[in-house]
Amino acid sequence: MTGIADAGLERTIAAETRLSDVQGQEGILTLAGYSAEEIAPNATFEEMVYLFLRGRLPDRTELQDLSSALAGARELPSHTITLLQGAAERGVEPMDALRMGIASLDSGDASFENQAATLISSTASIVAAYHRLAGGNEIVWPDREPGHVRSFLRMVNDSDPGKEQVRALETYLNTVMDHGLNASTFACRVIIATNTDLVSAVTGAVGALKGPLHGGAPGPALDMVFEIGSLDRAESYLRTKLERGERLMGFGHRVYRVRDPRADILSVATRRLYESGQGDEALYQLVVGVEEIALRLLEEYKPDRSIKTNVEYYTALLLYSLGFPTELFTPTFAVGRVAGWIAHCSEQRSNGRLIRPGSIYVGDRDRKWQGLEDRVR
Ligand SMILES: CC(C)(COP(=O)(O)OP(=O)(O)OC[C@H]1O[C@@H](n2cnc3c(N)ncnc32)[C@H](O)[C@@H]1OP(=O)(O)O)[C@@H](O)C(=O)NCCC(=O)NCCS
Repeated sequence: MTGIADAGLERTIAAETRLSDVQGQEGILTLAGYSAEEIAPNATFEEMVYLFLRGRLPDRTELQDLSSALAGARELPSHTITLLQGAAERGVEPMDALRMGIASLDSGDASFENQAATLISSTASIVAAYHRLAGGNEIVWPDREPGHVRSFLRMVNDSDPGKEQVRALETYLNTVMDHGLNASTFACRVIIATNTDLVSAVTGAVGALKGPLHGGAPGPALDMVFEIGSLDRAESYLRTKLERGERLMGFGHRVYRVRDPRADILSVATRRLYESGQGDEALYQLVVGVEEIALRLLEEYKPDRSIKTNVEYYTALLLYSLGFPTELFTPTFAVGRVAGWIAHCSEQRSNGRLIRPGSIYVGDRDRKWQGLEDRVR
């Protein structure tokens, strides 16, 4: 443990941003001026991207132009496909494959807008293509039709998604597009602040997101529900876990002290999906029932902590309902978050400074050089 009072920088303000604001005590998430509950279920992914990059919603022509730019950048370069094929043969983890795939893109001298479109589109393409290759399947390239999220679902599942599925995933990607100065976003800003290119910044951000303390674990949250199996087993299962001092997955958050507002948005989005006849309603009911019991028990065992449902709990259910396997959960998060990273890069470029915090030297001083033969341990 370090002796520095603010080693995690929670109390340090390192940027001004118009992109998102997280009010953890109240459970309010603002995305580019809109409450997350207002914008995420209504905007298309493209509208959200435009809002993040330009600070306002697009008109019809602007929206069309952005959709075409994303569609035009969808197919990956052949060297990236070759790299992903090799990674799939070696059984590389999907987040590593995403990092390799992004890093393989040319930084070139394209405009910021073009690089942004390439990176947003390529992130979805790499995630989907690698998923196909890792499963021993051919990559699916959809037509150049507009619709980033529809195309992503087509690429992943090799079938045409229903409009409720598109809406559910779109709501998810919008919801997680940005969340203050989280670790990957901060990493991205640190990198771009050196005046390097966007490909380098996004590659670094993917590396940060891969870490289990950040990319989170929606998979384990769902695994817990599967292990419980039926509602009548939930109380004893959860009680045993808490008695043993174990954590309930999908509950608790470093910033939110009330229910994570993203959990509400995703819970509604998942319910709509089930109401439209997609997915397994019994599982939905089990997830809701387990949540209720878990919250009651957390209140009983940790009365002073205010541990509430976090985003991971319903993320898991939503993505599972779309037919996504758990290894696709964190890469899919990146498909949404990449737009937030790039918007932060744009802000950092326009108003930021090279980020170079200080450190306190706690090592020795005045050591004397010893040749190899003189070093005794
Ligand atoms: C996300 C998380 C790391 C944030 O934790 P935090 O607010 O920094 O809190 P701490 O890790 O310091 O824990 C504080 C106390 O709350 C308890 N706690 C926190 N989350 C808990 C959970 N999900 N289940 C049971 N107890 C929990 C800890 O055991 C600790 O109790 P103690 O003080 O009696 O030892 C934590 O809530 C967690 O591990 N959650 C489960 C994993 C998860 O869902 N991760 C995804 C997050 S989006």
